[in-house]
Amino acid sequence: AGSSPALTTNNQGGVWVPQMARPRRNRKSETLRAMVRENIVLPRNFIYPLFIHEERYETEIPSMPGQKRFSLAGMMAEVAESLQFGVKTFVLFPKVEDRLKTNDGREAYNPAGIVPRAIAMIKDRFPDVTVMTDVALDPYSDQGHDGIVLNGKIINDETIEQLCKQAVCQARAGADIVAPSDMMDGRVGALRRALDSEGFTDVSIMSYTAKYASAYYGPFRDALDSHPGFGDKKTYQQDPANGREALLEAALDAAEGADFLMIKPGMPYLDVILRLKQATNLPIAAYHVSGEYAMLKAAAERGWLNEKDVVLETMTCFKRAGCDIILSYYAKMASKWMIEDGLI
Ligand code: PBG
Repeated sequence: AGSSPALTTNNQGGVWVPQMARPRRNRKSETLRAMVRENIVLPRNFIYPLFIHEERYETEIPSMPGQKRFSLAGMMAEVAESLQFGVKTFVLFPKVEDRLKTNDGREAYNPAGIVPRAIAMIKDRFPDVTVMTDVALDPYSDQGHDGIVLNGKIINDETIEQLCKQAVCQARAGADIVAPSDMMDGRVGALRRALDSEGFTDVSIMSYTAKYASAYYGPFRDALDSHPGFGDKKTYQQDPANGREALLEAALDAAEGADFLMIKPGMPYLDVILRLKQATNLPIAAYHVSGEYAMLKAAAERGWLNEKDVVLETMTCFKRAGCDIILSYYAKMASKWMIEDGLI
């Protein structure tokens, strides 16, 4: 009579579907659900992005409610608070004053610049905190591009020369991980050689391996006042239509000495996370970017989504897709919620 169970009655006269496998049995109590749960996000999996500026006060970012541009003192307080909830790794993004912006982005390797000073402050007071830095010229570029512009084009190799100086400067200030987000060809290998030849063989590289030309970065560019001055970033960031291309980038980054591979944005690119996880033995990170944060915040503010539930679900989904590490503006809040609710 085929394999589909027929409705019948049991010995007690009750309705019985003669179905042997019943997956619901493993869901019947929280104890059993927890026992068979395949993935769990922990505070130590998070990297918390912090925006910093030279002012003496904090500034709200309108398109990212709840996120601020911090003064250096405010940044220290945020780091201290996050540590209470087990978040121990931070990535710094500076808003640079207009007068310091140039086409070659040379402020990026000013040892007295805001990022080297911020790194030194954190490492001085919290030596066990892991500090990651972004390697790209856009916050320092008067063109709002990640590299040097010549005749309307972003020139690859000359940009890499600047990025090497930037990464070495950040390493000198105490950065533990440098994260190139520029998408120039060959930058991971060049950074590795530049760091090694200055004695920084133990500074790690987290490559933005599959960084897409995404509309989800809008609020970030608001926060740093770093919108491209002309055109878009499609000659260096990946086409959102492409998946295989991420595997090509991953192979190059691994061969060039990357320690971690990152996919960015996160939620719309879970398939890319899984494909990279299957293609490499390096740890995988995803960046839950500013636009993804803004979407969840906006719906939560309207009462359309339960913020805590949707955020914790989202973070778990990153793990399920293959992430070891998650960069998120929710890092502190998610960790706080997990602890308060006794989930970890
Ligand atoms: C800059 C950089 C960007 C982000 C991280 N590093 C923006 C961009 O490429 O234009 C975006 C992060 C976010 O949206 O949260 N190289």
